[in-house]
Amino acid sequence: MRKPLIAGNWKMNSPDESSKVLLVNVLVHAQLLEKRILEEKDASDIDIAIFPPSVYLKEAQEILTGSKIHWGTQNVSAYDEGPYTGEISASMIRGFGCDYVLIGHSERRCLYETLELDQYVLDQIVAKKYAKAINQGLTPIICIGETAEDYAAGKTEEIIARLLDVLIEHQGPQALAQTVLAYEPVWAIGTGQSATPEWAQKVHSFMRERVAKHDAATAESLRIIYGGSVKPENAREIFAQPDVDGGLIGGASLEVEEFSEICFSAAVSTH
Ligand code: 13P
Repeated sequence: MRKPLIAGNWKMNSPDESSKVLLVNVLVHAQLLEKRILEEKDASDIDIAIFPPSVYLKEAQEILTGSKIHWGTQNVSAYDEGPYTGEISASMIRGFGCDYVLIGHSERRCLYETLELDQYVLDQIVAKKYAKAINQGLTPIICIGETAEDYAAGKTEEIIARLLDVLIEHQGPQALAQTVLAYEPVWAIGTGQSATPEWAQKVHSFMRERVAKHDAATAESLRIIYGGSVKPENAREIFAQPDVDGGLIGGASLEVEEFSEICFSAAVSTH
């Protein structure tokens, strides 16, 4: 059985109060959640990770060390060190006690990293970052999803297959055993219009089968999480799908009670 993972991507949001207050709040709610999970007979344990803006990593480390919550960054450099202004290396990230890193989020692909690069070249960059993360013992959460235009053109599987093949070509299928994949349809991010549970299941199952062609055991243990307008109201139904192993949460991760409720949904939706 795969342990569900709920990851909270704060994106470039500074909380209303302060990051410290939000982090402490996350911690307090996680402790309440743990108690709630223990008391619920059909609930199982889950992993929780948050991704604050990198300037808050030190606070995250101070506040969350020793707790059950993991933390990580929203990006990582494809290089170890040198003249790469604005970049942060995998070893620097590790130095802040991070366990996870997001790679290839569509907001990076669409807003910054496209710069006339085609999607195949972007996949190669993602694969380089992936290698750096793995070499530092970080768990990469690799994001992939299609735009509304590609969805309408029926290109979802093609886009996902291309990235998976690049990852496997670079690192071999077994490296995926220490990786999380996140299916995030671009049209569902921040729109309030999440994918239907059936659609998420269809795509996740396609991803698992694609990996299984190379390595069945890795495919079976691989966690594939869903992101895009997950809220407490739709979380249970989405997480109940057999190939959905948790969620990557944007907006709702800044609302601690909502985030906690989504985490609880994952704990009771194990399959
Ligand atoms: P929303 O949950 O706000 O749609 O964002 C999803 C996301 O992009 C998480 O990385």
